[in-house]
Formats: sequence, C-alpha cells, structure tokens
Amino acid sequence: KKKLTIGLFGFGVVGQGLYNVLSQTHGVKAEIKRIAIKDKSKTRTLPQELFTTDKTEILNDPSIDIVVELINDHEAAYAIVKEAIEKGKHVVTANKRMLAENLEEFYELQQRYGKSILYEGSVCGSIPIIRNLEEYYDNDLLTSIEGIFNGSTNYILTKVFEEKKSYADALLKAQELGFAETDPALDVEGYDAKFKLVIAIAHTFGVFVKPADVINIGIDKISATDLKYAKENNLSIKLVARAFKQGDKVFAFVAPQFIEAHHPLASIRNEYNAVLVEGAFAEKQTFVGKGAGSYPTGSAVLSDVSALTYGYAYEYKKRAQHEALSFSNDLRVEA
Ligand code: HSE
Repeated sequence: KKKLTIGLFGFGVVGQGLYNVLSQTHGVKAEIKRIAIKDKSKTRTLPQELFTTDKTEILNDPSIDIVVELINDHEAAYAIVKEAIEKGKHVVTANKRMLAENLEEFYELQQRYGKSILYEGSVCGSIPIIRNLEEYYDNDLLTSIEGIFNGSTNYILTKVFEEKKSYADALLKAQELGFAETDPALDVEGYDAKFKLVIAIAHTFGVFVKPADVINIGIDKISATDLKYAKENNLSIKLVARAFKQGDKVFAFVAPQFIEAHHPLASIRNEYNAVLVEGAFAEKQTFVGKGAGSYPTGSAVLSDVSALTYGYAYEYKKRAQHEALSFSNDLRVEA
C-alpha cells in the first residue's frame, strides 16, 4: 500500500488528537505533510515549518492525497471541502454542522469527482456508527435510530443530576475538557445533536433532510419541576435524538426525555454517547462510546484516513433500499 499524504486544516482539540493518535499508531500508512491554521503566532510544540496560514499550500499541492478538515468555521470549511474535491483530493471531516447543511451536495460531488468524503468522527465521536449503518446493516431495513448524540450536555446532566454540581460549573468544565462547541449554545440548545442526527438519517434511511426542518429542544428547557419529578420517580433526563420510519415517512426530533432506570440510555454518563439502532431483522442494538474529546474523536478521524488507504467510499446504499421514503416534520403522529 502506498503511503498517503495528508494536508490538515485546523489544529484544535480534534486536529491535535488526530496528530497524536496518528503518531502513536503503526498500522496506518499516512503522514501529515502540512497544517493550515489561522494564527501562526500561537505557541505550538511542533516545528513551525509544518504550519502555514496559506490554504493554497495544501489545496494546490499535487502530492497531497487527503484533505482533513477540522476547523471551527463551518462556512470556511464548506469552501475547503468543495475545493479539495474539485482538485481531486479525498476529504475527511468531522464538521457536523457543515456536513448536515450540505450533505446532498456532497453526495453529488463524490459521484461527480469519484473522490470520497468520509466523516465517521462527525457523529458520536468514537462510536463507529456511520460505517455500521453503511456496511453492516446493508441487508436490513432499519426502522429507527436514536440515542445520546451530544457529549457536553450528557456530561452536564450527569454532573447536575448525580453530583449536584451547578449547571454553570458543569458547563465550564465541559468547555475546559474540550467537549463543548466554541459557542456552547449549539450543544445546550440541541443543535449539535440535531446536526449529527441529520447525518445519521442519510445513512439510516437514505433521506437527505435539512437541519432547519428538524425540531430541536435543548437542555436549557429543563425546569426545576422536571428535575424534581425525575428524582421523585427514579427517572433520569437525557437529551435524546431520534429518527424513525412510519409508513413511507421519516420523522425526527431532538428533545430532553424522561428515561426509566432500566432503559439502555439511563446508564450513559458523562461525555459518553449511545446509539440505539433498530432493524426489521437485527432488532435492537446499542453502541456506546465517548462522543467527544481529543483522542476519541481523533481516532475516529484516523479510521477514515485508514479507510482511504484501501479506497473506501460511502455508497449511501440505503437510498436504494428506502427509495419511497420522504421526511415529515409533522410530529403529531407520535403524540
Ligand atoms: N460538542 C460536541 C459534543 C463535540 O459535546 O458532543 C463532539 O461532537
């Protein structure tokens, strides 16, 4: 196998995680040639020559096979991904918002240019959910996917519920640990979980949904009365992301829910995420793993780089299986 050359955009929590995980593995034939950053004056432990503030040094470098995009700005990220594909490079990204908003176009770009855009790290960090949906469930008709798709809010709920910490302290700690988004409102108000759900829906049901069409209610809407009710009734409250099929329609939402003690989501604590998949034949299965953090997410990004060394591409197989499905945001069906 040829060694693949990576141009990395962004050197934050996940970028550094990828760098460290890659340098501690031996199996993946890939190396980082250049890292594009915004601010060159920040002190870094790696040699200065590795860094550039000029994105063309990566995008116009014919020796770079893979662009790994791990920046914060979703609009700038979109432009980078598009240009990279048009210039014949594969892309690996973990940018949930950017993916959720542009997934259908990225699907078409991959077909047109014959290059891969892989994004295992974008949904539930270290849990290998996209590739399972793509590959493992190829023969099954999936009926629902749900779970805890945001590490920061699950961390906050754990601290507030079980350790009696204040909400503000728990959020601060989630930020310090690198779990939270730069704008933590995206976590707290359920947007981040929604972006991940939208990406998962494409691989579960083969339907492209716009994030704006999916309702999200965040943990900021949990009241003191809710907390009291939960405690009195031995329930936990979890921020649940859920999509399910009914007839020829797919429904989806993100909202805090009361969870009974024996439910698989009840035991998911701190920055852990969980995904429950239900298929006609496989029935119910649960995946659990860290949904945020430098190394867990870095390892998911590296799994995509590794997949590219053997020419992997998503085929969006569920599009053919669920051809007649369309999305509906009329949730009265479950009321
Ligand atoms: N802010 C996100 C979370 C990071 O807390 O889950 C991982 O996508």
